Amino acid sequence: MDEARANASWLEVVIHTTAEAADAISWQLEDLGALGVAVEDPSDLLFIARDTTVFVDPEALAELGSETVIRSWFEPAALSAAGDAGREITLARVRERLELVGSYLPVGSCRVEAREIAAEDWVENLKRHYRAMRVSERVTVAPTWDEDVVVGPDELLIRLDPGMAFGTGSHETTALCVAAIDDGMAPGAQVLDVGTGSGILAIAAAGLGAGRVDACDIDPHALRVAQENFALNGVGAKVESWVGSHEAARGPYDLILANLLADILIAEAAGLAALLAPAGILVASGLITERRDEVLERFAEVGLVLREERERNDWLALILGRA
Ligand SMILES: C[S@@+](CC[C@H](N)C(=O)[O-])C[C@H]1O[C@@H](n2cnc3c(N)ncnc32)[C@H](O)[C@@H]1O
Repeated sequence: MDEARANASWLEVVIHTTAEAADAISWQLEDLGALGVAVEDPSDLLFIARDTTVFVDPEALAELGSETVIRSWFEPAALSAAGDAGREITLARVRERLELVGSYLPVGSCRVEAREIAAEDWVENLKRHYRAMRVSERVTVAPTWDEDVVVGPDELLIRLDPGMAFGTGSHETTALCVAAIDDGMAPGAQVLDVGTGSGILAIAAAGLGAGRVDACDIDPHALRVAQENFALNGVGAKVESWVGSHEAARGPYDLILANLLADILIAEAAGLAALLAPAGILVASGLITERRDEVLERFAEVGLVLREERERNDWLALILGRA
């Protein structure tokens, strides 16, 4: 960070909302240019706090209310040279996006607080909110700055820093997919990760013994972040990745990971099914329980049936195979 940026004050925008609206609001904040977004969901933190292997800041637990709190940080460049006017413009844009989300999801009190903080505080805040997290039986995800984290000899530690692309393991669908890889992937499997985001699922598959992993994302920014993460986690040689979708993939695959939204799963079902090996497994996630039947119907039309399903906080992972 250059000196001028380090000395400038950053804008921290805190939004009090519901667990249901947290993802949609986080995506909107990232779209507005927030450099970091941290979600504090009281039920998640309490859930994690019961796991004795994971550290949860006791101060954060003590401060828990019943609402989900989203903290986001905007860098000085996001504020105009006009100072206060820049802050007001950013806040007005945030409020517009909250209204948008409020038109289709319950957003609770939607109280917004804003304050200016020094750059070091932003970094410290981020560090306080992202700690090592056990995502599945053998997989722990930790930011690079958490140096104290230790995992067992048969476990996998994935290093990922938050804020740059979807997928730090804290989202239900990511955790469901990692767990599906952890207990469903055969050693040496040929794997395709469609919509790799931060690359977390491809890294988990490579680290847990896949033979080859292909990963793609339509978002070039996400793919750049994913490739950095492949290198950071030492799996670069095992993972081939490209900007785009599954059209460029060379199947058949033993395991296809598709943590996409319900509408995208429906649109891409035929293409994904065509890439699956006869005894292969497709993990379809990114959908909420309400969309389950619709997604299953579409996959049935292309010859895939439900083998198992996993649910967390209304989010689903459907594990499908050939009929
Ligand atoms: C919900 S994120 C999942 C990220 C990561 N795989 C995880 O499990 O945390 C979905 C990702 O899919 C990408 N995406 C959306 N539609 C896609 C498509 N048709 N083909 C490939 N990637 C797509 C998005 O850019 C985004 O990075």
